[in-house]
Amino acid sequence: MRRKSIDDLMCDSKSKPKTLGLFDLTIMGIGAIIGTGILVLTGIVAATDAGPAVIFSFLIAALASALIGLCYSELTTTIPSSGSAYVYSWITMGEQIAFFSGWTLVGVYITTTATVATGWTGYVDSFLRELGVHIPRILTADPFNGGLINLPAVIIVLLITLLLTRGMSESKTINNILVLVKLGIIILFIVVGALNINPSNWNPFLPFGVRGIFTGASTVFFSFLGFDALATSAEDCKNVQKNLPIAIIASLVISTIFYIVVSLVMTGDVKYNLLNVPEAMAFVLITIHHPGVAQVVSAGAILGILAVILAFIYAASNIAMSMSRGGFLPPSISKLSKKSHTPNKSLWMIGLITATCSGFFDIKTLATFANVGSLCIFFIISIAVILLRKQHPELKRSFKVPFGNVIPIASAVVCVILLFNLPGTAWLSYIGWLAIGAVLYFAYSKKHVIY
Ligand code: ALA
Repeated sequence: MRRKSIDDLMCDSKSKPKTLGLFDLTIMGIGAIIGTGILVLTGIVAATDAGPAVIFSFLIAALASALIGLCYSELTTTIPSSGSAYVYSWITMGEQIAFFSGWTLVGVYITTTATVATGWTGYVDSFLRELGVHIPRILTADPFNGGLINLPAVIIVLLITLLLTRGMSESKTINNILVLVKLGIIILFIVVGALNINPSNWNPFLPFGVRGIFTGASTVFFSFLGFDALATSAEDCKNVQKNLPIAIIASLVISTIFYIVVSLVMTGDVKYNLLNVPEAMAFVLITIHHPGVAQVVSAGAILGILAVILAFIYAASNIAMSMSRGGFLPPSISKLSKKSHTPNKSLWMIGLITATCSGFFDIKTLATFANVGSLCIFFIISIAVILLRKQHPELKRSFKVPFGNVIPIASAVVCVILLFNLPGTAWLSYIGWLAIGAVLYFAYSKKHVIY
């Protein structure tokens, strides 16, 4: 339960060049947040859980994310380190919780990336099929789903890892372009869709009752994951104390607005019960007789989703780098490349594991624990705010969550409620991941941890 001192920790984290300004950070947040969630889940949740009231599901999930986002903001400004929850919990709760937080984050980010990469293959496959190009199934599905390897997912994960190893400046420029393309196609969808709304499609608005709204909220919560990944960029930020909290909140607000408008347009254009398809945006556009726009939107989605993969590989490698600095993982993992100043060993380790997961495993099974893992981390984050205020009242907090401990407590309660709504199988895979972590901790990390 030994805790790390803040001074020792901050000495470790001054070596990276500061390349990310407020615009880059906000774009990176939006890039990580808006992805397969809105593209794939919105239609399915509207059709099966909430109907047009899916907008309330998004609002509830947004509110929960905002509470957690505020807690993250206070912690990142007080302890600007790329280790995120792993570092906050080492300072406030001790070594073991720190190790398991870091381990959980790495697992969550890897499986989320693999899930998104697998969804990306689906988009590429159907886009190419429309153009008459057929990739054999053996090369687009893992061995558990009737194929041999999900090759497009493997290739894209490795290419994005390669890009990240070239340096933050290159990555940020490409990321900014990808996110702007993604926002562009969503705006295109909204404009074309808004002209075709038939208000009678919103009736009934609440076909599955209030319960459906809440079930939908726990599913669409996935769509908001990514704002937390922003906290791992603390060491690459210019003026971190000011820019990072603004970027976290701004990216959440902007994404929420997009999600709500897209859901309203989708359910206004097409009756909710017809939306149970994975590519709902393209489906809606085809239904309202705009197949050309549908192709443009699909092409943009293929590019836009890459920003999610980029943000999550970057976040996972930052956590692994921080854990290596702390002695929990071998020291070579935290070495920065002399040329690009990026943690290339960490990036390749994460990239290769993610590529293997996306290529060869049934990612749906692996990914079930991403929700449990994220919520456990968010719970720890909420508690860490309260503990850090008690243990280190002297620290300068350029952003402080208002109303005392009310919001951190509310955030912790929301996490517990959402955790108890998740299926038992999700818990099983999370416990499996923790068990592997325990072997690593007792065999290696415990003996090498640095104070
Ligand atoms: N929020 C991210 C997405 O929806 C994970 O793709």
